[in-house]
Parts: sequence; structure tokens; C-alpha cells
Amino acid sequence: MTLSAVAVDAGELPLGGGLLTLLRPALLRVAPGGLVAVLSRDRAARDDLQRWCQVEHHGFLGSEVVDDRGTQRHLIERGRLGVPRPEREAGLPLALQEDGHLLAATVLDQAPFPEHADPHTGFAPRGAQVEPGGPPYPVSLLDRAHVAPPDVARLYDQAVAAQWDASRDIAWSRITRLPDALEWSVGQLMTFLAENELSALYVPSKFIPRLHPHFAEVGMFLATQVADEARHIDVFLKRARVAGGSLGVSSVTTSHSLLSLLQIEDFTEAEFMLSVLGEGTFIDLLRFVERHAPDEPTFELVRRARADEARHVHFGLSHVRHALAHDAGLYGRLEQSVRRRAATMSAVGGVPTPIQDALVVLAAGGDAPDRISRGHEAFRELLHEMHDNRMHRLEHAGFSAEQARTLSELHTPNFM
Ligand SMILES: [Fe+2]
Ligand SMILES: [Fe+2]
Repeated sequence: MTLSAVAVDAGELPLGGGLLTLLRPALLRVAPGGLVAVLSRDRAARDDLQRWCQVEHHGFLGSEVVDDRGTQRHLIERGRLGVPRPEREAGLPLALQEDGHLLAATVLDQAPFPEHADPHTGFAPRGAQVEPGGPPYPVSLLDRAHVAPPDVARLYDQAVAAQWDASRDIAWSRITRLPDALEWSVGQLMTFLAENELSALYVPSKFIPRLHPHFAEVGMFLATQVADEARHIDVFLKRARVAGGSLGVSSVTTSHSLLSLLQIEDFTEAEFMLSVLGEGTFIDLLRFVERHAPDEPTFELVRRARADEARHVHFGLSHVRHALAHDAGLYGRLEQSVRRRAATMSAVGGVPTPIQDALVVLAAGGDAPDRISRGHEAFRELLHEMHDNRMHRLEHAGFSAEQARTLSELHTPNFM
């Protein structure tokens, strides 16, 4: 609470030996022009305070003796320069969960995001009092509407609670070498998954330093996403090699597709492409691998990765819906972005053939000719499922059914 006058008893403390430690916070408690009375028995205090006030642009109004022990009362008027007075009243205590946990979402409720953030506040946490005159920081993501969906702190809390360990949490010892065709299929798919996961590590990472720190929860969520993707890369590469298998082919189609993702410089556009379209489609791919997993540990590691991806898609959808609700022109820009990417991909053909073959063999459970047609059928169904689910996600993001169909059909054949 801001007061009009405050008294400080400094006893015998000299100015540089503790008096200022009491005086400075007292000055912050009064508004500019407000008064602080300093009671002191230090003989030098009067001269010292006078000089200090001059340097710090406060007014020294005078001194008087107030008792027979030599105590003096020095009167100081708070200056109009310097640290601004606190904008907020004293806060309420943060509400704990029933289990005693304290969520980031609770903090965000009490200290909400600003509409627009000022680059001059640097790394000052949201809610801190900032001395004016600081240098501008090179951050470009400054508007809540294009940066911070309302449920980001809740998603961060979920992400932190859901972290798992790619070393300990998978029963690696229970994986044995598969028949050659299946072992090849798993190695090829894990190579492809890890390659796409690398793009999902790089793309969100590059936006973290562009975020204004007042939207820290967004950076904190992206950090959990980056940690998730690191774990996915780890777990998929381990699965490829654990039973003596090797990595498969990295195709030119995938390379073109992931480069076009990496080159997106607009945060919302990147979230849309990576998380709504790419990771959304990836969820269907992971579900397919899970359904046809050759052993229980492979099922389990893919299931865990898919649960993480669901959170990334959720954040992407939240982000895009929030931005679309505040910016009607965004529909057109996102559509253009999908069309540009489709144009760069038009020369490179459909789903990379090693991936097609690996998915067919996985679904067939091997390369026996009588099973392969079943695998083919499952692969074709997967493509339909991906398209249908992409359309649903696009409609959920706020696109019309017709826009959703067009955009889904233009999506990269690389899935991500
Ligand atoms: Fe991932
Ligand atoms: Fe992801």
C-alpha cells in the first residue's frame, strides 16, 4: 500500500552501515512527494543524509532534536525521479491445490499477461518494479494475442508433471531382435520419427529468445516441449539400435519438408504448421505404429511420445485459436503459408517410399506376400485418417469446413 508518510527508527546506524538499508524501502512505500521521518542517534546522519538526498534527487527538509538522548528526526521528501512506486497493492496469498501443490496457472491468475509488453523492461519478471531508462531488448513477440494463449500455464503444469525417462521407463531388456523385414521396418520408422523430432526440437527453440519475458510461461511451456522432443529423439534412436538394428534412409522429401518448416519466421505461422498440422498428423502416425507395434516396449515408448505430442498439438491449437480470435487477417496469412509450402514441395512427390514400405511391412507384421496386401490397406486407411483428423483440427482452430479440406489436402506428404 502506498502511504503519505512513514517513520524509520535507525538507532545509531551510520548511513553506509545500515541506515540506507532501512531508508530505501521506506521511500518506496510512499508516493513521490510523500514524507519519510528518520529517527537517528548517529551524529553524522544529518550531513550524510543531506548529501545522499542531493545525489538521489530526494528533498532533505530539515532536522530537529526530539529527546534528551540526542535523537534527531530528519525529514525527507521522496523525489519524483528514481524507481516508480509500486503499481499494485500487496498481493493475496497464492491458493494451493488440495494436495498442497502450487501451480504456475495459479500464479498467472494472480499476475496476468499484459496486452502489450515493453522491450525496455528487459528480463524483469512480470510484476517487478522497473527503473525507467533501461535499454531495449531484442525481443519481437510483444503482443498477448499473438503469443500467449490463456491456458498456457495449465499446459506447462501438465507438461512438468508428465515428464518421463527414456532410459528407465522403457523395458529395454524385453526387446529382442525381430525377423529381418520387421527389424528393417522398425529401424526405418524410428529414423524417420527421430528426423522429424529434430525439426520439432529446432523450430520452437528459435522462438524462445524472441519472446518478451513478460510472457515467460510461453517460454516455459516451449522449454518443456523442447525437453519432450529431446526425449523422443533419444527414445526412437535407442529403439532403432537396441537389438542390433540400424538406422534407415533419410529422404529428400523429408529434408525439403523440414527445411521449409525451419524457415518459417512468424511464430503463429510456425505453431500452425508445426503443431496443428505437423504434430497433429504425427499423432495419427504414432497411433498407427502403436497399433502395429511388434512388442510391448515399442508400444509403450510410442504411446508415451504420443501423449506428449497431444500436449504440443493442444498448445498449437490454443495459440492459433487465440490469435485468430484477435486477428481476422490471420486466416488468409496462414492459408498463404500452407500454399507457399505446398508449392515448394510440389516437385518432390508423395509420402517418401522408404516410409510407405516400412509402414506397410509393420502393419503386415512382416513381408510374407499374403500379409502385404493387408499392410497396404492399413497404410491407405492411415492416410484417410490423417486427412479426416487434420480437417477436424483445422475446424477446431476456427477454419470453415471448406478451408479445412483445402488446407488439409495441401499438407506436406512428409506428414510433419
Ligand atoms: Fe516429439
Ligand atoms: Fe512435439
